[in-house]
Amino acid sequence: MTTPRPARSSTDTTGEPAGDIAGEPAGDIAGEPAGDIAGEPDGAAAGGVGAGGDCPHVPEIPFPGSFRFDPDPVWGRLREQQPITRVRTIAGSVVWLVTRYDDVRTVLTDPRFSRAGTVAPGAPRVAVSSPLPGTLPTTDPPEHTRLRGLVSGVFSRRRIEQRRDWIAGLAGELVDRMVAAGAPGDLRAALALPLPIQVICELLGVPYDDRDRFRAWTELAYSLVPAEAQRVRAAMAALTDYLAELVADNPGVGDDILTELAGDDALGTDELVAFGMNLLVAGHETTANQIASFVATLLREPAHWDRLVAEPELVETAVEELLRHTRLSEVGQLRVATTDVPLAGVTVRAGDGVMAAIAAANRDPRAFDRPDEVVLDREPGRHLAFGIGPHFCLGAHLARVELQEALRALTARCPRLRLAVPAEQLRWRHVLVSGVEALPVTW
Ligand code: HEM
Repeated sequence: MTTPRPARSSTDTTGEPAGDIAGEPAGDIAGEPAGDIAGEPDGAAAGGVGAGGDCPHVPEIPFPGSFRFDPDPVWGRLREQQPITRVRTIAGSVVWLVTRYDDVRTVLTDPRFSRAGTVAPGAPRVAVSSPLPGTLPTTDPPEHTRLRGLVSGVFSRRRIEQRRDWIAGLAGELVDRMVAAGAPGDLRAALALPLPIQVICELLGVPYDDRDRFRAWTELAYSLVPAEAQRVRAAMAALTDYLAELVADNPGVGDDILTELAGDDALGTDELVAFGMNLLVAGHETTANQIASFVATLLREPAHWDRLVAEPELVETAVEELLRHTRLSEVGQLRVATTDVPLAGVTVRAGDGVMAAIAAANRDPRAFDRPDEVVLDREPGRHLAFGIGPHFCLGAHLARVELQEALRALTARCPRLRLAVPAEQLRWRHVLVSGVEALPVTW
C-alpha cells in the first residue's frame, strides 16, 4: 500500500503558535510553508489521529487542549495507541510525532536524525520563522562539536558553581523586593523573569539596562503567530543589529562570554552574533517560564509547597521532578531523517521531519512510576527535560542552579506563599515556550 504524500497546506490562520524549544532565534521568515513527509506507516494509514496522506484531517499541533495547566489528554492517548503519528505544524509542514520515552530518546540520540536538516532548503518547519542556520541547535557533528567546544567550558558545572552564591544573592534580593512591595505580587514579574535575565546578561556581557528592548524582540521571536510574520521579521533584524553592535563595540577586556569568544580567531563575526542571539534568548526565556511554572505547580497543591518549606534539603530532587513534570512546550523537538529509518513500527523516509515530544516522554508510565504525580523526593536522573545526546542543553547546570536558588530564596522568605487566584484561572501564554502570563501570589 502506498501512502499518498500529504498536500502542502497554505500557512495556517488559526493564530495558534507552535515551535520547538532549543532557543534558536529565527533567521528569516519564509513566507511559504515548507516540508512535507513521505513516510509510510506499516499499518493502516487512514483514520484516527495522525492519519496522513492527502487526508486533510492530520491534526494540528499544538493540540486544541494546549496552554492549560494539565497536558491535553490526547498526548496520553497517542502515547498508548499511536506512538508515532503525523501532525501538521502551524507552518503547514506535516511531520512525524513520537511520544514514548524510548522513541524520543532514539530521535534525540541517533545521528540519522539531523538538526542541520531542519534548516536545509525545503525543510519542514514548526514555526512561522525559520531557525538561524550555523548555530548550536542547527548544526550536526563535526561542525556542532566545534561550536560547542567554544562555549562548553563557560557553562560547565565547575564554572557555574563558582557563580552559585552570586545567583542565590540575586534571587534573595528579588524576593525581598517583592515582599517589601506588599502582597499580592506577580511572581513572574518580580522573580521569574528578572533572575535569569540578570544572570545571562552578566555572563554574556549584555547590558541589563537593555532588557526591555531584547525582551520585546524575544517575545516576538517566540510568538509564532503566522499573522505576526512581519513583526517577527523586524524583531529578528533588530536583535541581530543589536548583537552586531555589541560585538563591534566590545572593548575586549571583560571576562564575559562575548569577549571570550571574540578573542577566538576561529569564529567569524556572523557566527559570534548568532551565538550571542542564541544564548541570550535560550538563556532566559526557558528558565523564566520554568521558575513560574514550578512555583505554580507547587502551590496548586499547597501540601507540596509546605513539604518543601519543611524539608528544604529536598530542593535538588524537587527541581528534577518539576523539570520532568512541567512541560516547557506544547510541541516537540524537530529533527530531519537523513536516510530511511525504521521507527516505532513505521519507516521514516529520508527528508521527513520527526518531532520528539519530550513532555510526553517525561510522563511515559514505561519510564516513570505514577508519572502524572509530583513526587518531590523521586529518584532523579532519567527525565529528558534538557534533551539527551549531542544537543543536550548547554545551559542545563545554569538552569538547575537558577531554579534551585529561586526555590530556596522563596521557601526561606515566604513559607506561607499561596496563589492569589485559583490555579484554574491562571492564563497560559500561547507561545513557543509555555508559561503563565502572570503568577499572582500572597505570602
Ligand atoms: C529550565 C530551563 C531550560 C530547559 C528546560 C532547556 C531545555 C533544552 C532542551 C530540551 C534542549 C535540547 C533541544 C534538542 O535536543 O533539540 C536545549 C538545548 C539548548 N539549550 Fe536549554 N534549556 C533550559 C535553559 C537553558 C539555559 C539557561 C541556556 C543558557 C545558555 C540554554 C541554552 C541552550 C542551548 C544553547 C541549547 C542548544 C544546545 C545544542 O544544540 O548543542 N538552555 N535546552
